[in-house]
Amino acid sequence: MMRLAVFAGKFDPITNKHIAFARKLLTDQFDHIYFLPVDPALVKPEWRHRMCEAALGSREDMSVIGEDVSTPRKEMLSAVKTIAAVHPEHQLAFIMEDGLKAPKGYPVIPFESDSREAVLEIGRYRDTSLISRNVLAFIASQGLYQHCEEKKLREMLSKGRLQHTMGVRSTAVQLARRFDSPMIKCGVAALYHDCAKEMPVKEMRRICVNELGRKEQDEILSSGALMHGHVGAYLTEKLFNVHDEEILNAIRYHTTGRVDMSDTEMIVFLADAIEPNRADYPGLQEIRQLSEESVRAAVLLSLCVTKAYVIKSGKEFHASGDQTITWLREKCTERERSLTKKMLDKWI
Ligand SMILES: [Fe+2]
Ligand SMILES: [Fe+2]
Repeated sequence: MMRLAVFAGKFDPITNKHIAFARKLLTDQFDHIYFLPVDPALVKPEWRHRMCEAALGSREDMSVIGEDVSTPRKEMLSAVKTIAAVHPEHQLAFIMEDGLKAPKGYPVIPFESDSREAVLEIGRYRDTSLISRNVLAFIASQGLYQHCEEKKLREMLSKGRLQHTMGVRSTAVQLARRFDSPMIKCGVAALYHDCAKEMPVKEMRRICVNELGRKEQDEILSSGALMHGHVGAYLTEKLFNVHDEEILNAIRYHTTGRVDMSDTEMIVFLADAIEPNRADYPGLQEIRQLSEESVRAAVLLSLCVTKAYVIKSGKEFHASGDQTITWLREKCTERERSLTKKMLDKWI
């Protein structure tokens, strides 16, 4: 006789507390626990379903059921049918999150979730330790629980730019996951990094001079390419209500980098250069290859590649980029420096 339980909850989002509770019950009461996301919740069932899958990993004694969720009760009864079809001989209990009601006639184990605390933390752009890194990566790459203004952003960008933006966001989150850096901050900065990119240069210049107090001789006023990061940070604060300095700096300096740039800044810079929708350019393959090993070295290589390209075209490379290169060379280890040089020598 299989001893089974349905863990019914919003899982909005699923936290480490849910998993620890289920694990404990599996050690002495049940052979298998089914996680069933029910409505209503802040994010749609499909996403909560996927967060549950990310949290459970490959464990064989826990799985997720129910996809088309309309009401908790209806879904719980259909879950019972599904389970009965697979295990005709079974005992079933319900674990119920935050006072949800179970169908009549089954033993009930109550569970108090900490999802609300987790949502508050995410709203402050923190990679909360209440949630596993796998689940956080999903949240960051989808922009969940962050009041993201994707609709407003969509109106500001062309289809192609939007596709690039989404590519930068997923790449930034992957890099942050791999190098143990802030995933939520990288995801938000990536989402808004090019929000000013399609604004007329004249308007960007107006904002730089009137709103940001830039002087006419300032280097960033020399091109839209340099201005859109600074104007983008300004718009992200004004239009999208993001006031986190680390996120704003990652947007502000995503084209030039800067001395003392943070891990978040480096990751957004790098993700912008290597995201999968990028048309091929000389050095792209090498930068992608190096990004597997070191973000710092890959950012250095990317800047050196741009500098070489700019000089080759007979133009002048911006001083802020040069300062970043010097700083990064000092920060890099001997091995990172030599890897960068080797890659650079490949195509120069
Ligand atoms: Fe950009
Ligand atoms: Fe970009």
